[in-house]
This record gives sequence, C-alpha cells and structure tokens, in this order.
Amino acid sequence: MSSKSFERIRLDYDGDVAILTLNRPEKLNALDSKTRMELKQALDEVEQKARVLIITGSGKAFAAGADINELLQRTSLDSMEAAKLGSELFNRIEELDIPVIAAINGYALGGGCELAMACDIRIASRRAKFGQPEINLALIPGAGGTQRLPRLVGIGMAKKLILTGEIIDAETALRIGLVEEVVEEDRLMDRAAEIAEKIAEKSPVAVKFAKKAINSARSMSLPDGLKYELTLFSMLFSTHDAREGMRAFLEKRKPEFRGN
Ligand code: HXC
Repeated sequence: MSSKSFERIRLDYDGDVAILTLNRPEKLNALDSKTRMELKQALDEVEQKARVLIITGSGKAFAAGADINELLQRTSLDSMEAAKLGSELFNRIEELDIPVIAAINGYALGGGCELAMACDIRIASRRAKFGQPEINLALIPGAGGTQRLPRLVGIGMAKKLILTGEIIDAETALRIGLVEEVVEEDRLMDRAAEIAEKIAEKSPVAVKFAKKAINSARSMSLPDGLKYELTLFSMLFSTHDAREGMRAFLEKRKPEFRGN
C-alpha cells in the first residue's frame, strides 16, 4: 500500500484501487477551497494510476458540506464562482474514466451529500446520516443536489428532503434509493474494497464505456441513449479485451485484460 499526503486529504493505493480520505475531522471534513483544490489534484492523478477510486471521510463525518465560514465571506457569487464551489469538481468525479465508490462513514450533508451523489456507487455505514440542510442557511443545494437527488430518489422525496432540510439515517437512505448498501461500521471499508476489487478485475475499457453509457441516460432521450449504447458496444468489438474475454470464456480460463 503506498500513500500520498496532502493537507486536507490522504491518498492511498492498494494495488489498482485508490482510496481518497477527506481528512479534516475537526471540522467534520467541511469542503473548503483548499480541500477542493487538493481533491482536483488527486483526481487527475488517480485517473491515470488506478482502476477504481474509493472516497471516504476520517472521523465522524464523510463531509458536513461546504465550509460555512468560507461561504459567509462571499457577498455575492457569479455563476462561474458558484460552479467552482463544488459543481465542477463533482461533475469531474461523475465523468472520471474510472468508477468511484463513496464509502460513507458518517455525516454526508449539503455538499457532502452532493459529493456522494456524484459517485457511481454509494455504500453507507449504519451510522451514516444524509441531508441537504442548506435551506436552514437560507440557501439551496448548489453542487447538484436539486438535480441528482430527484434522479436518485424521485421528485417528491427530493422536495421533502431539500425543503425541510431533514436529516435521515442510513436505513432510510437505503429504502429511498440514495445508497446501494448499508453495512456495519467496521465492515465499511472492507465492503467498499470488495466491490472495488471486483470491478478492477474487469476490462478497464469496458468499465469506462459502461459508466459513460449509463451516465448518458441522464441527459439523452431513450432513442439517442440507445444509439449511443450501440456505438460504444460496437467499438468494444475492436478491442483486445473483448476478444480475450470471449475466448477465455470458451476456453474455460480466466481472461487477461490489457485495457485496450
Ligand atoms: C464549517 C463546520 C461545518 C461546515 C461542521 N463544522 N460543519 N464548519 N462548515 N459545513 C464545524 C463546526 O463549526 C465545529 O467547529 C466542528 O465542525 C464540529 O461540528 P459540531 O457542530 O460541533 O458537531 P456536532 O454537534 O456533532 O454536529 C454535527 C452536524 C453540524 C449536525 C453535522 O456540524 C452541522 O449541522 N453542520 C453543518 C451542516 C450543513 O449545514 N451543511 C451544509 C453546508 S452548505 P468548532 O470550531 O466549533 O469545533 C453547503 C452548500 C454546498 O454544503 C455548496 C457546494 C459545495
């Protein structure tokens, strides 16, 4: 396992899996500009070096949102500045070539919940808590909450959560479709690693295309999405990995994927 230290985050590698830990526990991993800058740097690196990324938090929070001290310094925001608060970063996570698993260890509030929603798969510890409490600050979610939450949980539930600012527990998050699994606290990282390793064994190019195709369902019409799926599906037929995958099946052996 190799590690790289930043000031606000930690980046570890375990084989092909990168583990990024938000590491400002005394402020419940509130996402200040330094954290966001370090996250951006880490993403550029892991996209080159890893096959799967796990994002988690240290201490009792995943992330308790944008740093409210920093938000208060802002008298007004133009849309460029607002996007830099989280939207651009979270879009980058969503569009990263490799899959991203959120291992949600505790509070995922405001920008923290938005960060989790930008990840591809969400695994929560039983003690995790979720919410979009921006309304209590007379704000609204500003990094995807009004767009990604209804896509995951439906419009009515998203309105209930965003308009009341209510905080929900992990079991409720599972029931409404905000997370994919809930596990005991001490199993969280092992379970996230199990899923990551399962994905890391597949062909990276097929994994990347599958993520791209599924992401396109958010913005494309069904006919356009089906055409896009077919294009990506067809492209895979010219890869070494698809030949190898099909051959290995017929020869009853484990495939050896190269990523092209
Ligand atoms: C800055 C924060 C913070 C935040 C917690 N802290 N959340 N600082 N920004 N978002 C700080 C506290 O001020 C405190 O610092 C320390 O972390 C511990 O927090 P406590 O409140 O003492 O802990 P606790 O009583 O256990 O309460 C936990 C909590 C509460 C329920 C999660 O901290 C909370 O409500 N936090 C704010 C959540 C929120 O409103 N998030 C949305 C932010 S807006 P000191 O120095 O006093 O020890 C947002 C917009 C997104 O996210 C825009 C795009 C990214």
